Amino acid sequence: MRHVLSLLDLTTEEITRVLALSADYKSALKSGKRPSVLANHTTGLLFEKPSLRTRVSFETLTTQLGGNSLFLGSDVGWGKREPVQDFIPILTSYLDLLVIRAKSHTAVAEACEFSRCPIINGLTDVSHPCQALADMLTIQEHTADLAKTKVVFLGDGNNVSYSLAVICCKLGIEFTLGAPAKYQFDTAFIDDLNQHAGKELIRQVEDPVAAVKDAEFVFTDVWTSMGQEAESKQRLADLKDYQVNKDLMNQARHNAKFMHCLPARRGEEVTTDVIESSSSLIIEEAENRLHAQKGLVVWLTQEANA
Ligand code: CP
Ligand code: NVA
Repeated sequence: MRHVLSLLDLTTEEITRVLALSADYKSALKSGKRPSVLANHTTGLLFEKPSLRTRVSFETLTTQLGGNSLFLGSDVGWGKREPVQDFIPILTSYLDLLVIRAKSHTAVAEACEFSRCPIINGLTDVSHPCQALADMLTIQEHTADLAKTKVVFLGDGNNVSYSLAVICCKLGIEFTLGAPAKYQFDTAFIDDLNQHAGKELIRQVEDPVAAVKDAEFVFTDVWTSMGQEAESKQRLADLKDYQVNKDLMNQARHNAKFMHCLPARRGEEVTTDVIESSSSLIIEEAENRLHAQKGLVVWLTQEANA
């Protein structure tokens, strides 16, 4: 059975197929078509952390495709009320698909082992594959030439930048993380990606100005992710030079676009003028969560597990 814990689990062809389905379903929805391909289908959403976009987009896409979704918060007792080897097989024997947002990536990997239906990672401490799919759908819609684009992420080498680096690698797109040394990815991760790409496609540098040079898409994310609140003061101090502001955007390609997974903290990782400028794609990017996940769900439930 296939699960999507990380985009490393998908081949380049599979990611391309998911993005094509996403674009098809997006244009179908815009012309008023909501095919009932998930009729009588139930998606569970097992969430340990807050969410606006992930929760609502998964619930909405399931409804649009004729299925039903169940939001499962802390009261169901995952990891608390009974052993995982009872909890996960029972839960997933009721469901057709389970989306999990968890504190621990390892806990989602463990859930995959016991699962009787496909699982999608709706964000862990390590990765956020659904976000990267929506980001790539947005990039595709805004670049003239995917092969010549350059994606830059400034700030923390976190779950969002991890998945963005993976999808860029899989699709042969240049990606640079600009981050202080202690917030950069493990070099083994970068080496593995570049080995997969067959060239030096994925880079990380400390200098934020060098990082954004020639970027067509400049990304950032909060400096303190959910669960890291105790480190917030230190992170604010360590990452202050990586704030995406007008000066830094001016170092990027002419007409470079700003992107952010949201929620954002204006005045920290990005200035208000940048996030609210005409270069900012944040609303489209968030809307594309719905379309990209629709492509992913259709692929996973109809093709990958056929
Ligand atoms: N970007 C994102 O995953 O948003 P939520 O935390 O609101 O789901
Ligand atoms: N890096 C952030 C992303 C939120 C969507 C976090 O994990 O909190």
